[in-house]
Amino acid sequence: MSIELPLENAPLTQLQQTPIDNVLNIIDQGLVHLPSYRELFYRWERQQWRAEEIDFSPDRFQWEKMGQQERQDRLYGLSAFFRGEACVTDTLAPYITAMPDEEMRIFLTTQLADEARHTVFFARFFKEVLEIDKTRLEDTLENIQQYMNKHLQYILIDSLADVAERIRQEPKNLAHLIEGITLYHVIVEGTMALAGQRGILELYRQNNLFPAFRGGFTAVARDESRHVVFGVKFLREMIQRDAANARVVKAAIDKYAQVAFTALTPADENIPDILAMQQDPWVSPRYALDSLRKKIKVIGLSMDLPVVPPPPLF
Ligand SMILES: [Fe+2]
Ligand SMILES: [Fe+2]
Repeated sequence: MSIELPLENAPLTQLQQTPIDNVLNIIDQGLVHLPSYRELFYRWERQQWRAEEIDFSPDRFQWEKMGQQERQDRLYGLSAFFRGEACVTDTLAPYITAMPDEEMRIFLTTQLADEARHTVFFARFFKEVLEIDKTRLEDTLENIQQYMNKHLQYILIDSLADVAERIRQEPKNLAHLIEGITLYHVIVEGTMALAGQRGILELYRQNNLFPAFRGGFTAVARDESRHVVFGVKFLREMIQRDAANARVVKAAIDKYAQVAFTALTPADENIPDILAMQQDPWVSPRYALDSLRKKIKVIGLSMDLPVVPPPPLF
């Protein structure tokens, strides 16, 4: 008989069966009682897992039996995550140097290790299950860009690199760092990734798809919950220290939020078909909008956000 451990210490085998909403609730709880940076660090120490130990053979077996169309669908859903994990790994280092407080810097070093682990997890899955491996990791990442829409590319590839470069060049310019955390932790992790992860993990769990992947990806979501809480806490404190910083956060949300929602919305030409199947094309951007709203409230702002259509009536 297996013993259920609290999510806090759950191993990969248990995370495989855990509904993603249970993991995402950790963020909401974290936003009600913001933990200290040190507590987030200790959580990281308790929540270690190994990308190396996952046995992907059941997933590989399912992939081999899949038709061409379903293979394409899976590739489109997962490539942005693989590439995104590599982008956040590559761009976090300047943030660490620029952090104003030591406890913040210490926490961010744990996040850098997390993002590297997430990238390795996806690299293994793409190689061992989806059969995409161009030998050098850089070449594999270049190859899968074809499965990302231009909005995803703008946010994950261009914008993350642009802000990180500005922080690197001017580490004492707090406005760059605040824009960066708003983009990286609130828009990319706390809005886009959350909505994407939820959609993918729910679909896979309901269809018992890729069980080994699910365990790892749920561990990724648990890691992300610490990152998102860090970002919200940081921005809230920056605004408490100087109210003028609120303008920087708002400007960044105005700049990136609409593109983020568009990136999560199916292409215009596919919407009539989705509606004809009596499915809701806006589930993902609506969930993302709701996630963003919660974060903005805890950060201490009130502002207008882009509009996402309501659920269609069939
Ligand atoms: Fe990540
Ligand atoms: Fe992250």
